[in-house]
Amino acid sequence: MTETAARPGAEHGEAAAADTQAKVHRAETKTKTPAEAKREGPTLEAIRGDHRVRTFIRSANAQTGAIGYTEHGERHANTCADGARFILRSLGHEARRCELGAIAAYLHDIGNVVTREKHGQTGALIAKDILEDLGFDFEEIATVMGAIANHEEDEGGTAISAVSAAVILADKSDVHRSRVRNPKTTSFDIHDRVNYAATSAEIKVSRKEKLITLDLTIDTEVAPLMEYFEIFLSRMVLCRRAAEFLHCAFALVINNTRLL
Ligand SMILES: [Fe+2]
Ligand SMILES: [Fe+2]
Repeated sequence: MTETAARPGAEHGEAAAADTQAKVHRAETKTKTPAEAKREGPTLEAIRGDHRVRTFIRSANAQTGAIGYTEHGERHANTCADGARFILRSLGHEARRCELGAIAAYLHDIGNVVTREKHGQTGALIAKDILEDLGFDFEEIATVMGAIANHEEDEGGTAISAVSAAVILADKSDVHRSRVRNPKTTSFDIHDRVNYAATSAEIKVSRKEKLITLDLTIDTEVAPLMEYFEIFLSRMVLCRRAAEFLHCAFALVINNTRLL
């Protein structure tokens, strides 16, 4: 069975609803193994509630807005956290690793509070101090730091752990018109156009087929598909490598046609 993670704004059909129910049902009935029970620690809720995290993400979002980038605030952080947790859980990873995936994904863009350039690296160091204060152990901090620092392809990032791979896939698949902040469609740049053209984006994971699919609906009246590839090809290569790290193939489906 293929699991589906719906994005905000995605259209939900009956099939999607059925998948969601299956996912919830499985989560509710999952029993912790003794090893998992031992590996409990602070959760995403502790991160979300931390005043430094809230302030830095809010400020990072304002600063990326000031230099013309798409939305990078709590909506993006929550979408990525849900996506990373979903990918790892769908592939059968243990509960604590799924939680670390969600935490790393939530924090992955926090470095934009310093500068856009090298925000992966600065974000990893900001996260280290916060995670340490919240009582995470250093093995977990190291995993989260590596995932944050390696999420951008143009900063030399690549998948270096299962958590890192899940963060990359969740981040790069968050393409949606709700992220565009420029109110004037006539002054859209190519990034605005491609994001605005995306009316639906879903991650689908088939554990049986070992396949992770990014399924997009693009309004080609807003942006031709060539523009999507022009700015996203390097991201798709990063996603393919991330999927391979999770022992899966990566597929890109746009408007019901498989392109990769
Ligand atoms: Fe980023
Ligand atoms: Fe991001």
